[in-house]
Amino acid sequence: MGLYSLITGRRGPSGFGSATTAEEVTQGIDATHLTAIITGGAGGIGMETARVMAKRGVHVVIGARNIGAAENGKAEILRQNTNARVTLLHLDLSSVKSIRAFVRDFHALHLPLNLLINNAGVMFCPYQLSEDEIELQFATNHIGHFLLTNLLLDTMKTTAKTSGEEGVNITVNSVHPGLILTNLFQHTALLMRFLKFFSFYLWKNIPQGAATTCYVALHPTLKGVTGKYFADCNEVTPSKLARDETLAQKLWDFSVKLINSVSKKNYLGFEDTI
Ligand SMILES: NC(=O)c1ccc[n+]([C@@H]2O[C@H](COP(=O)([O-])OP(=O)(O)OC[C@H]3O[C@@H](n4cnc5c(N)ncnc54)[C@H](OP(=O)(O)O)[C@@H]3O)[C@@H](O)[C@H]2O)c1
Repeated sequence: MGLYSLITGRRGPSGFGSATTAEEVTQGIDATHLTAIITGGAGGIGMETARVMAKRGVHVVIGARNIGAAENGKAEILRQNTNARVTLLHLDLSSVKSIRAFVRDFHALHLPLNLLINNAGVMFCPYQLSEDEIELQFATNHIGHFLLTNLLLDTMKTTAKTSGEEGVNITVNSVHPGLILTNLFQHTALLMRFLKFFSFYLWKNIPQGAATTCYVALHPTLKGVTGKYFADCNEVTPSKLARDETLAQKLWDFSVKLINSVSKKNYLGFEDTI
């Protein structure tokens, strides 16, 4: 899948392409047996992902920092589909304390966890430290999701075991949604509008932006597929840096160290077992 496919919307080997929407990739899928956490599901791509997944029957748990916005999103999902199962929990991914509280709140619901969609993110925000004194973008996008995933891993393993998905266990994939003008660009809104004017053919709308996430999460052809990277609903090769295992291990070790130091300082008792 290259620039030509992106511009023309030509479909790739999966049968889908850059112009495919989240509803199209999940057409006919019955996901009523699944529970998913979607971080940042109160707006943008996450909100559309939540809406479409709920439409396919998934019990969607939205982790949102802005509960007011999440309530509006939930109301809209329920307006379109009265049977939708949507639960809202507060989550600030830039705060170790908030992530731990979210995980406790989720466990209190006694739900299985089939899908964890690490979607929330910020970009180009002015330099700022999180409450844990970590640079805000790194704290939110990487450290927050790193901790959240590790804290939820046992629940996901238990779900995989009890749902009898033999040999499948847990799969992990990453996606690039494409270029979509959302709040993500709030710190560079003018520049982005200007750029979009000259490169309108490279941009997607939000339903197209949520397609790759929904495809990877729900499409039956991806059962058991792990460690892959997807864009425009097709597998693509990640960058050289992303394939550097030594660098990945360094980042893992650094992340554990950083979280441990924050947890120790705040008496949060993080166990160094990940
Ligand atoms: N749009 C693109 O062109 C593009 C391109 C490549 C990758 N992506 C990725 O796609 C994902 C979704 O982006 P989007 O375009 O949908 O942007 P968006 O509309 O700005 O949505 C981002 C979501 O993340 C939430 N969030 C931000 N900081 C958070 C925190 N500390 N704790 C919890 N939630 C937080 C936001 O909540 P608030 O409402 O509280 O801010 C919002 O719901 C991001 O990871 C982004 O990096 C997007």
